[in-house]
Amino acid sequence: MSHTEKYSNGSSRDATQGNSRDSFSVRGGFRRLPIGERRRRLSSALGIPPEEERVTGSDAEVLQLADVMVETAVGYVPVPLGIAGEIIVDGEPVNVPLALEEPSVVAAASYAGTTISRHGGFTTETSPAIMRAHVYLEDVTTEGEAELRAAEEEVRRELAEPLERMNARGGGFRGIEIERLDDGTVAAALLIDTCDAMGANVLNTAAERVKPLLAAKSGGRAVMAILTNAATDRVFTARFRLPFSACARGSVDGAEMARRVEKANRIASLHKERAVTHNKGIMNGITSLALATANDTRATEAAAHAYAARNGGYRPLTTYRVENGALHGSITLPLSLGSVGGAVGFHPAARLALRILGHPSARRLGAIAAALGLAQNFAALSALVGEGIQKGHMRLHAIRLAYAAGARGGEISPVAKRITDNERYNKDAAAQALESYRNEQATERGFEGSGSSRH
Ligand code: MEV
Repeated sequence: MSHTEKYSNGSSRDATQGNSRDSFSVRGGFRRLPIGERRRRLSSALGIPPEEERVTGSDAEVLQLADVMVETAVGYVPVPLGIAGEIIVDGEPVNVPLALEEPSVVAAASYAGTTISRHGGFTTETSPAIMRAHVYLEDVTTEGEAELRAAEEEVRRELAEPLERMNARGGGFRGIEIERLDDGTVAAALLIDTCDAMGANVLNTAAERVKPLLAAKSGGRAVMAILTNAATDRVFTARFRLPFSACARGSVDGAEMARRVEKANRIASLHKERAVTHNKGIMNGITSLALATANDTRATEAAAHAYAARNGGYRPLTTYRVENGALHGSITLPLSLGSVGGAVGFHPAARLALRILGHPSARRLGAIAAALGLAQNFAALSALVGEGIQKGHMRLHAIRLAYAAGARGGEISPVAKRITDNERYNKDAAAQALESYRNEQATERGFEGSGSSRH
C-alpha cells in the first residue's frame, strides 16, 4: 500500500507530509497581518519544530527584511554562502562568493579557477551595458513604421526626465530599433545603457513612459511595454589557455585530458540533451554568484539558455580547442548582472558579497561571472572524462549524512570519512558510523583518564 493510499480518508494527503496539523490557510486577510503575526500563525498551525523555527523564522530583523522584499512573507530560507578563489580575472585576483545548496560547486570552481589562475588566469571581453525594452504596437501601417523610425529625437526628449540619473552616470538612451513580427505587430526597441545596474526598473519605466508617444506616432495601438531579459547586447567572453602539464588528472596525462575535454564539449555541441546539462553546470557557478549578489537569477538563466539556442539548435556556451601544447577554453554569454540598484545594494547579504568581490563595477562582475562559468565547466568536464563526478559528490554527500545522523562540529569530518570508507551512503550506515566514532572517542578518553599510554 502506498503512503497516499494509507491516508485516503477523503483527502490525498501523503503520510510523508507530517501530522494532521499540517493544514494551513492564507485566506481571509492573512497577507495584511504584520509579519510577526503571520509567522506566529504559521508556526502554530504547522507545529514547526524548534530547529525549523530557528533556521527559517526566528530572527525578527531578517523577518522585517523579508517583509519589505516580498509579499505575504512568512520567513526566510538561509542558503549557504561559499567562496571560490582566489581566481585571476584580467590580471586581478578575486574571491567569488557563491550562494547555493548543491555540494561540489564551490570546490569545483575553486579547483579549476585556481589551476587556471596559476597559468595566467582568465582574460575577458565585453560590450557596453546596453539593454533593451520593447513597446509592442498593433495596426501600424508602413507609414506609421517610418514615423517610428524617425521618432528617435522625440523619444530622447521624452526620456530626459526618467533617465536623468542614468544620463548623469554616463548611460542613458542610445537609440530605437524597429522590427515587424510575423503577425504584423511592430516591436519598437529602446536601447538604454544602464551602466552598473541590471536596469529592469529604468527600462520598464522608460518603455511605459514612451508607450503613448510611440502609439501616437505609429498611428496604431500599444499592446504592452516591457524589457527583454535576453541581454543580447551585453555579451561577455572569457578565455583561458592551460598547458598540457596543468591538465593532467590522476593517471591520465595532460595531452590526453585536454583531448578528452575538447571531445566532451564536441559531444555537447552534437547532442542537445548533453548540452542542457553542460550549460546547467556552467550556470551552477553563475547563478550562485547572481544569488549571492541579489541579482535576478531567473533573468540570468533565461538569457543564457536563450543565447545557447540563438541559432535554432541548443548548443554549449563554451568552446575548447587543443593547440600548441595547450588546451584553450572560452565561453560567451549574455550577462545583465548589476553591481548597484534593485536588491543588490539593498540586501545586507548582497552588500557582503560585493565587499568580498572588492566592490566591482557591473563590467567587472560580468567578467568574473563569465570566468567562473568557464571554470565551472572545465572542472565538470575534467571530472566527467577523468574519474567521473560521483566520487567527489559522494564524499560531500557523506558530510550531509553525518550531519543528518546527529554529528556536530569536529565529529562531522571523521564520521563522513567512515561513511565514505565503508561506501555505504544511507541513514543507517551514517548512524552506525557516528556510533562507532563516539564509542571510539569514549574509549580513548577512558585511556587518557586512566593515565594509560598507548605507546
Ligand atoms: C552538476 O550540478 C553539474 C554537472 O552535471 C555539469 C556537467 O555535467 O557538465 C556535473
